[in-house]
Amino acid sequence: MIEMQEAGFGYQDGAELLSGMTLSLQPGMFHFLTGPSGSGKTTLLRLLYADLLPTSGRITAFGQDLRGLGRDEIAALRRRVGVVHQDTQFLDHLPVAENVALPLAVSGQGVDMTALRDLLGWVQLGQQARALPPSLSGGERQRAALARAVILSPDLVLADEPTGNLDWDMSMRLMQLLIELNKSGKTVLVATHDLNLIRAAKAQVAARVLRIAGGKLQLAGADL
Ligand SMILES: Nc1ncnc2c1ncn2[C@@H]1O[C@H](COP(=O)(O)OP(=O)(O)OP(=O)(O)O)[C@@H](O)[C@H]1O
Ligand SMILES: [Mg+2]
Repeated sequence: MIEMQEAGFGYQDGAELLSGMTLSLQPGMFHFLTGPSGSGKTTLLRLLYADLLPTSGRITAFGQDLRGLGRDEIAALRRRVGVVHQDTQFLDHLPVAENVALPLAVSGQGVDMTALRDLLGWVQLGQQARALPPSLSGGERQRAALARAVILSPDLVLADEPTGNLDWDMSMRLMQLLIELNKSGKTVLVATHDLNLIRAAKAQVAARVLRIAGGKLQLAGADL
């Protein structure tokens, strides 16, 4: 669904942070992306949803070269790719339910209240639907961000350190939700530096582990 062919990216002219990346995100697969802080995980995710364009090589999404996409095509791509950002932001003056439903409003779709209630129930935020984001705990914020990322029923879900500041139990609960999404047929990619989390998840789901090292993307072996 998303392919990288010898893709590279640098924030500054001449210096590539990531280079020669070849990757094929397989439909229905669960992927982890790991690598040290500053290695380029967030950058790679931004390339996958065309927030950044490669400075070398090629990236195609759903058969289209990202470099040639117009504004409408990028909007269409973003509807098929749900993103949980590393620094989760909400509109703090709007209740959780409205924040979660925001992508519907932005893409001009009406809100199916039953579906919204079901989605909030799935992430166990039914009680917090009317709460304002600043009153949520870290785990509740991450679950609200996940609900918002999947409200448009994307084919692919990208989650950037979704368990960043969470304790182990809450991290596993969030992983459980991501695994459920994958079992329902969605392709999932989770960026994390937490190898224990990857090991625990691999006991429950067949996952490919990608690793960034020295600016290159590699497929990690079983030696995690
Ligand atoms: N907008 C930007 N402009 C210039 N450099 C940037 C920009 N964003 C990130 N970088 C640099 O690119 C490198 C990779 O950053 P990135 O955020 O992709 O790493 P990461 O693997 O996600 O790290 P972390 O695990 O800490 O989230 C870092 O050296 C960072 O300073
Ligand atoms: Mg990051």
